[in-house]
Amino acid sequence: MTHRCAVIGNPIAHSQSPAIHAAFAQATGIALRYDRILGEADTFADTVQQFFAEGGKGMNVTVPFKVAALELADYATENAQLAGAANTLWLDDGKLWADNTDGRGLVNALRSYGISLSKDRVLIIGAGGAAQGVYGPLHQAGADCVDIANRTVSKAEAILDRHPYSRIPSCRNPLGTVSRAMPLDAIVEDAYDLIINATSTGLDDSTLILPQGIFEPYTTTCYDMVYGKDTPFLQWARQQDHANGILDGRSMLIEQARLSFERWFGIRPPYPETEEKPPYAY
Ligand code: ATR
Repeated sequence: MTHRCAVIGNPIAHSQSPAIHAAFAQATGIALRYDRILGEADTFADTVQQFFAEGGKGMNVTVPFKVAALELADYATENAQLAGAANTLWLDDGKLWADNTDGRGLVNALRSYGISLSKDRVLIIGAGGAAQGVYGPLHQAGADCVDIANRTVSKAEAILDRHPYSRIPSCRNPLGTVSRAMPLDAIVEDAYDLIINATSTGLDDSTLILPQGIFEPYTTTCYDMVYGKDTPFLQWARQQDHANGILDGRSMLIEQARLSFERWFGIRPPYPETEEKPPYAY
């Protein structure tokens, strides 16, 4: 029996999910047809419901429907609820379930490069949907603090407020760190172990201002959630003195897809052989 999965978004032609899931299906011996579906705002719910009514096994959801996907679902995992958005849908006992694998995908991607996050100081740049999706899992992975710097500080504050533990001093840290929201022109006293770009700069041609004092040679790793583009953040990272590592979002793309596939088929597929494998990926 051939299973049917799909990714829905708008635009969708660029999506690499069909190729990634085809590699997973081949590696695990699962017969899979995985389509791209161009969604429209006014018919999104009908399209999803029809897909599952016709026997669809699982659906990935991408921009701009991640919030709508969560609202449509009957049940949602805690990750999806805290993210306020969903990227993975499936049917269980006739009910539509939603999960968000972006944040755990990022955590797994970081671990595949040897970044455990345990006791790390983390800074997220940006406070849009991408940042909101990863904040909780980064925190839960054991970081001492996950600060957010954004052009519009109120959006960073709003993400911290959604996650009750943000404001609680970390018991792992004798200094009792809490996570903070800050503007992009802030001056920071302690550099970060990890800086993550979650802004959309790089998808357009805009420049990016970064807080001062956030980088420490041989210590700070820079991760851009965008992949396949030389973003202003990656350019900035290369200009710093001896970054501990400079990574783009390709590994996150793969890892969130592995988690979606596992949701649908109960098997975590191996890292695709066509991809450059991170040193600690399994
Ligand atoms: P996404 O879903 O990809 O996160 P989004 O919700 O539109 O997209 O959020 C885009 C993020 O990039 C926001 O944090 C935005 O900052 P604001 O909240 O102040 O709008 C940030 N961003 C976009 N262009 C930027 C720029 N030129 N400089 C700094 N931040 C920028």
